[in-house]
Amino acid sequence: MRYYVADLKNHVGETVTLKGWAYNTRSSGKVKFLELRDGTGIVPCIFFRGECEEAAFDVFEKITQECSLKVTGVVRKHPKHENVFELGAQSVEIIGASPEFPISHKEHGTDFLMENRHLWIRSRRQAAILRVRHEIISAIRDFFDGRGFTLTDAPIFTPSACEGTTNLFETKYFDEKMYLSQSGQLYMEATAAALGKVYCFGPTFRAEKSKTRRHLIEFWMVEPEVAFNDMYDNMELAEQFVEYVVQRTLKNRADELKVLERDLSKLECIKGPFPRLHYNEACELIVKENPEFKIGDDFGAPDETIVSSKFERPVFVHHYPIAIKAFYMKEDPKDQGFAMGCDLLATEGYGEIIGGGQREDNLEILQRKIHEHGLREEDFKWYNDLRKYGSFPHSGFGLGIERTVAWICGLPHVRDTIPFPRLYGRSYP
Ligand code: 4AD
Repeated sequence: MRYYVADLKNHVGETVTLKGWAYNTRSSGKVKFLELRDGTGIVPCIFFRGECEEAAFDVFEKITQECSLKVTGVVRKHPKHENVFELGAQSVEIIGASPEFPISHKEHGTDFLMENRHLWIRSRRQAAILRVRHEIISAIRDFFDGRGFTLTDAPIFTPSACEGTTNLFETKYFDEKMYLSQSGQLYMEATAAALGKVYCFGPTFRAEKSKTRRHLIEFWMVEPEVAFNDMYDNMELAEQFVEYVVQRTLKNRADELKVLERDLSKLECIKGPFPRLHYNEACELIVKENPEFKIGDDFGAPDETIVSSKFERPVFVHHYPIAIKAFYMKEDPKDQGFAMGCDLLATEGYGEIIGGGQREDNLEILQRKIHEHGLREEDFKWYNDLRKYGSFPHSGFGLGIERTVAWICGLPHVRDTIPFPRLYGRSYP
């Protein structure tokens, strides 16, 4: 039987063998302490002269940070702390040596840590972030799967642009010019006509030459699309979705969020209804604090912070000027010049985590927009067909996983939210 640190509470009093890596060691006279890490948690192993095998003390001297080990001992409750367990060690064996592990428990610079990302992920904090990421992804899947959505993943090689041509990643598909997907949305519009409620969940690419705390070159996005939903139904879905993901992560990953020193009270209040502001209302808030902001422009990160700082819950901004939005956005016939789109801005200055809205479903208007945006008509023939054969009002959105993980974990930068980040200026390891 394999034993894991996370399950020790069920084995108090039993003799178990654990396999893992040496996280930390210290000695004081007759007692030696080892923190053993096995991926499911970290357990203190106490070697007491007289209680453990004599040879264990000699082996202990050879233990270095991150060498792999097999430790046998008796599981005990911590004498002082509730729900904390330790191992009264009897024997230890080194499986793999680790001479001079480069990352010690002292502070290191960001560049050094990024260069050693493959080793850095073993640290308590980084492992906690990756566990929270996993929980967020499971919650996302459960939310949609539990509501009758069908997962219909989109291709990564795409012949056309979804989110403008400025940040397309060009590649080759044998002899053809091809791009890496910026978004699966256009394909979800097709699968929504086949299956009603659909989503895709995959990596997306933006060749953005910007080094900000919110931008990755390769990021993961979940994109639901629903036939016959209008922009208001879409906001309702996004609201229920974000509330579910945050509350479920709080419930299941409180321990990890504590390791990250996250203020949980800020997450506890992430419950609907979320405030909804028309673009013009958001502009009124922005110009008071940023007189340089020009009405009609898109919001910069500081502008988003001005808006979101007024609320304890995420805030929807809807009806952005049609001129600054993607070609597929539907113009509101009742509010001309404005798109039936909405972004969701997270709390605490984390900025936009969701972008979406209602799609243009009129063939003539769509064809004109494709032309105006300088896109090649022939690339969108199939997309136009969706308006030719049983056109239907429909809406959807995209949530960026890394920005969401950064927000929920309370991290200053998205680079820690993905196992191996691709950033402008970094693609190693
Ligand atoms: O607002 P965006 O560009 O929307 C779309 O791509 C739509 N086609 C989605 C849809 O309606 N199906 O991107 C959506 C989200 C953003 O709100 C943000 O969370 C994330 O994707 N995102 C990025 N995350 C990290 N790095 C980047 N460079 C990102 N660009 C967008």
